[in-house]
Amino acid sequence: MSREIPRRDFLKAAVAGAAGLAAMGALGPTAFAEGETAESAKPFEGKPKFAGVGSVRSVTDDIYYVGVSDRRIQLFENVYPIPRGVAYNSYVILDEKTALIDTVDRSVTGQFFENLTAVLDGRDLDYLVVNHMEPDHSSAISEVLVRYPGAQVVCTEQAAAILNQFFACDISDRAIYAAEGDTLSLGKHTLTFVHAPMVHWPEVMMSFDDVSGALFSADAFGSFGALNGNLFADEVDFEKDWLPDARRYYCNIVGKYGAQVQAVLQKAAGVPIQMLCPTHGPVWRENLEWILEKYDRWSSYTPEDQAVMVVYGSVYGGTESAANAVAAMLSQKGVADVRVYDVSKTHVSELIAEAFRCSHIVLASITYNMGVFTPMKNFLLDLEAHNLRNRSFSLLENGSWSPAAGKQMQSILDRLAGTSYTGKIVTILSSPSSEDYKALATMAEAIVASIQAGPIHQVEKETPEVKRWVCKLCGYVYEGEEVPAEFKCPICGAGADKFEPEE
Ligand code: FEO
Repeated sequence: MSREIPRRDFLKAAVAGAAGLAAMGALGPTAFAEGETAESAKPFEGKPKFAGVGSVRSVTDDIYYVGVSDRRIQLFENVYPIPRGVAYNSYVILDEKTALIDTVDRSVTGQFFENLTAVLDGRDLDYLVVNHMEPDHSSAISEVLVRYPGAQVVCTEQAAAILNQFFACDISDRAIYAAEGDTLSLGKHTLTFVHAPMVHWPEVMMSFDDVSGALFSADAFGSFGALNGNLFADEVDFEKDWLPDARRYYCNIVGKYGAQVQAVLQKAAGVPIQMLCPTHGPVWRENLEWILEKYDRWSSYTPEDQAVMVVYGSVYGGTESAANAVAAMLSQKGVADVRVYDVSKTHVSELIAEAFRCSHIVLASITYNMGVFTPMKNFLLDLEAHNLRNRSFSLLENGSWSPAAGKQMQSILDRLAGTSYTGKIVTILSSPSSEDYKALATMAEAIVASIQAGPIHQVEKETPEVKRWVCKLCGYVYEGEEVPAEFKCPICGAGADKFEPEE
């Protein structure tokens, strides 16, 4: 399959191939109108190759998007509401050899195979590159292997093991295990594989194409949201229409693994990347610095904005009233970016994303079962699970006979690195009194002063004094003189022999 296909001949071949598929009913009504043939319709004449075939789009002259959007799904990972749906991105490189990079979720395999068949246009598939084994990208692998029995699978050893765990799919006789920095020549294109453990699973790698400068980045730089025909971030108003979902995606899916993302960003700094091709959401081919800067902030737990989020948990309105009062006072004192959230009615993934964005967080909770109101406690535990750091908190508690939420919130927040507190805990009894409003005004003044003092919550650069050992499989860091022989990595379960000194 290494013959050169002249561009014009290739175009004809593409038309004929699509016509054949249309005749079999494989393409659906989008390829040709009724009664039309490839010759009469010439659907691709003067248009990008494969235009009109499902969700196929050209990424470059010989790289194609064959991913599919899912607008039926309600909950991503059965946890995160995604009213705008989600895209499962997959790419094909047509060179002397053909390569498919990642597949899709089981919900969209029909459209995926229509796309893939059309783009391969009768050619065989030589390689399937598996950057990430989570089933939203790997559910179609076993069918790919059946359809293309000659295809070899390029992945990390751990990806092969996880593939077998999920799908009882043993690829040992057709696998090419990609070590860090290994390359694969497709002809004109050469792929270089870069391991990216815990972005977002331990087996993850990224693939860099030297011709296009495309980094196929797995989940990194992805976003919730179905694609709407637009493939590239520069074809949409990303900041207005996509950033909130991109932030919510990153913070909730990968947010815990900031150190691992930072490690990948450092590797990326030495690579001439021209495009970022993630497994979800738009492809980046312009203004890459903008999204890289966002990732640097999110992964270093640096607030994006000098802003205040006020989160309240209230049953009969007293705590809500106090929260509204603080927000009004802040606004009156000139803080433009203040947003108020009812913790009972806002999905926790929205709150997590907003906590990553804002520099200051006001938490107002009733006392419930002698502790923190359950939805508020869930939110705080989720903040801890996502490793949020370097934030200023201001606390308000309410209780009709024995207020106790403040100290208990503080005990959770104390476990977050870089936590600071602005103002004292304000305690109200049932509903705020005039004295309470004075205390809230003092809290608001302290927050304003903190904001005016500038972005004090900078990244805490880690300057370890102890020896650090890195898990080769997942990037987990163990600190100590030696890794004990019986030690098991708490993330991926690797033994002590898999750790090596941090460079
Ligand atoms: Fe989109 Fe971690 O899978």
